[in-house]
Amino acid sequence: CTALILVGGFGTRLRPLTLTLPKPLVEFGNKRMILHQIEALAEAGVTDIVLAVNYRPEVMEKYLAEYEERFNVKITFSIETEPLGTAGPLKLAEEILGKDDAPFFVLNSDVICDYPFADLAAFHKAHGDEGTIIVTKVEEPSKYGVVVHKPNHASRIDRFVEKPVEFVGNRINAGIYILNPSVLKRIELRPTSIEQETFPAICADGLLHSFDLEGFWMDVGQPKDFLSGTCLYLSSLTKKGSKLLTPPNTPYVHGGNVLIDPSAKIGKNCRIGPNVTIGPDVVVGDGVRLQRCVLLSGSKVKDHAWVKSTIVGWNSTIGKWARLENVSVLGDDVTIGDEIYVNGGSILPHKSIKVNVDVPSIIM
Ligand code: GDD
Ligand code: MG
Repeated sequence: CTALILVGGFGTRLRPLTLTLPKPLVEFGNKRMILHQIEALAEAGVTDIVLAVNYRPEVMEKYLAEYEERFNVKITFSIETEPLGTAGPLKLAEEILGKDDAPFFVLNSDVICDYPFADLAAFHKAHGDEGTIIVTKVEEPSKYGVVVHKPNHASRIDRFVEKPVEFVGNRINAGIYILNPSVLKRIELRPTSIEQETFPAICADGLLHSFDLEGFWMDVGQPKDFLSGTCLYLSSLTKKGSKLLTPPNTPYVHGGNVLIDPSAKIGKNCRIGPNVTIGPDVVVGDGVRLQRCVLLSGSKVKDHAWVKSTIVGWNSTIGKWARLENVSVLGDDVTIGDEIYVNGGSILPHKSIKVNVDVPSIIM
C-alpha cells in the first residue's frame, strides 16, 4: 500500500538547524526524522511513499535513494509550485494514492511516536468508513487540531476543530491518518487545508473515526518541542530496554536516557544525562556536564563546559568553561568562545560568539 508524507517547506520554525538541512533530514535521536517514518511504514508493508514538498528536493534525493534500497520501497517526490496546504498535496498525488481501492496513510513530517500503522490499518478496515485519524491527549490543545466525540460514541468523530480558541477537549489530531481513496474526490487542486476543510466535511457525513495512540507523541517542529520530544523518545527506548542506549551503570552516565554514537569520544570525569543524544564523531572533553541536550555530528564540547537544554549543530564547537542553557540552538559550524554564557541563544551557522548572550535572542 501507499503513504504520503507532508514535508512542506524547509521548516522555518526549526531554524537555525533548517538553514543547513531540510527538517526531514535533521537527526532526531541520532536518526534522520524521515527515516523514523520510512522505517515504520516499510515495516507495516508500505511499498510506495510520496514526499509532498514545496522546494527542489536535490539535497534529499541522495539520502532517499539510499533508503529506497535499504527498505525496498519506492519513494517519489511530489513537488508543488505553490504551497498547497495540507490537503492540496493529496490531490496533486492522486494518480499514486488513488491507483487502486486500498486506503493510504498520510503523515505530518514533524510528528514522532511509536507509529502504530498496522493496528491503525486493521482498525480502519474494521469500521469500514472513510477515514481514521490518530489522536493523543495533550495538556495544551489550543496549538493543535482537536476532535470532539458524541457521548456514547467510542470512535466516530462529531467535530474537528483546528487550533480552538476556546477549550473543546484535549484529544488532539496526532497528524497521522489512514484514508480511503474516495477522500480524494472531496479535495480540489488548490491551496487547501485538510484540517479546516476536508475533515469537517467527512465528519459532517459521520465517516471520520479516531484511533487512540498508546505511548509518547510529540510534534518536534520547534526547538523546545524537539528537546522535549527527545526526552520522550529516549525514555521509550529505556522502557523497551533498547541496546542503543549507553548502559546506565557506565561511570559518566547520570540518570539514564543517554544515547551515544559509537564513534563519539568522551573525556575523563564527565557527567552525562539524563536525556542526552550524542551523534557520530562528536568529541567531548574532560569534566564536561551535559543534560537534556542534543549534540549533532562532528560537534565538539571542550573541557569543563556545562550544557543544558541545548541543541548543538553539526561541527560546532563549545569552548572551555562555557555555559549554555534555556533552549539554546547552535546552527552548523558555530564557535562558542571559552567561558562564554549563552542563555536561550539561537545562533546562525558559521558564527563565532565572543561575548555573553544574557537574554534569549537570535544572533546573526
Ligand atoms: N507539501 C506541503 N505543502 N506540506 C505542508 C504544507 C504545504 O503547503 N503546509 C504544511 N505542510 C506540512 C508541514 O511541513 C507539516 O509536516 C504538516 O504539513 C503540518 O503542518 P504544520 O505547519 O506542522 O501544522 P501544525 O503543527 O501547526 O498542525 C498540524 O499538526 C498538528 C499535530 O502536530 C495539524 O494537522 C493539527 O491538526 C495537528 O494537531
Ligand atoms: Mg507541526
